[in-house]
Amino acid sequence: MRVVILDSSEAVTQFAADEVCTLLHRRKNDPRGAVLGLATGGTPLGLYRELIARYARGEISFAKVATFNLDEYVGVVPESPSSYHYYMLENLFKHIDIDLSLTHVPKTCGVDLQESAESFEHKIEQAGGIDLQILGIGADAHIGFNEIGSSLGSRTRVKTLTQRTLEDNARYFDSIDEVPQTALTMGIATILECQSILLLANGAGKARAIRDSVEGPITASVPASALQLHPRVTLAIDRPAASMLANADYFLAAERNRAVASRSS
Ligand code: PGA
Repeated sequence: MRVVILDSSEAVTQFAADEVCTLLHRRKNDPRGAVLGLATGGTPLGLYRELIARYARGEISFAKVATFNLDEYVGVVPESPSSYHYYMLENLFKHIDIDLSLTHVPKTCGVDLQESAESFEHKIEQAGGIDLQILGIGADAHIGFNEIGSSLGSRTRVKTLTQRTLEDNARYFDSIDEVPQTALTMGIATILECQSILLLANGAGKARAIRDSVEGPITASVPASALQLHPRVTLAIDRPAASMLANADYFLAAERNRAVASRSS
């Protein structure tokens, strides 16, 4: 795992935006375009603002980009401000030149959920897989809505949210009682099939989850620890999020060496 410890959440945002732009530039002349995996929550908001700014400056285009979001609540209509459909439209899609027909957020309304999950997996396959999946991480180390105990072999399916997640996400609803109890989420095996993964985390509230995911054993009790199995995972985290890592100095040294190597190549 590449662990990049940065001085601020703004630096995390810039790092993530650079990674996305590198992919878009690399795929600029490829008829397949680029396939991005997207996340919701507070963490990627800075990234989306930065991508909108770079698009507005003419530095990037999303015209040939397809997207797949990690998850969506069950029982929330797409038009609701609490839905992840709405979040993506408001925080990214409506500000850029993306073809909305190429954007995919799991469908949970007026559909058979099992069929919707299977069709979501099928669409990822048809798109040729996800090139770069952006992830946040829950305080309990969930990724997507793969809560503690999620099978490391899981595919897209309905999961019940933990009390901790309900409490964390209550800020997006009028009260905790309104937070849906379930969501349709990409599975851990689905996430592990992405070409590359970029996990973002800021703040001391994520420090334990980061430590357990990077330095603990691989276990379904720490869903993000499954990322240790993936050969191309980068964690871009600020110092507070890195504060419990036993090997923080090693990760900082590895990044310094990487910078030296790229300057001399
Ligand atoms: P956050 O959520 O970005 O709002 O902290 C992350 C997550 O729950 O995956």
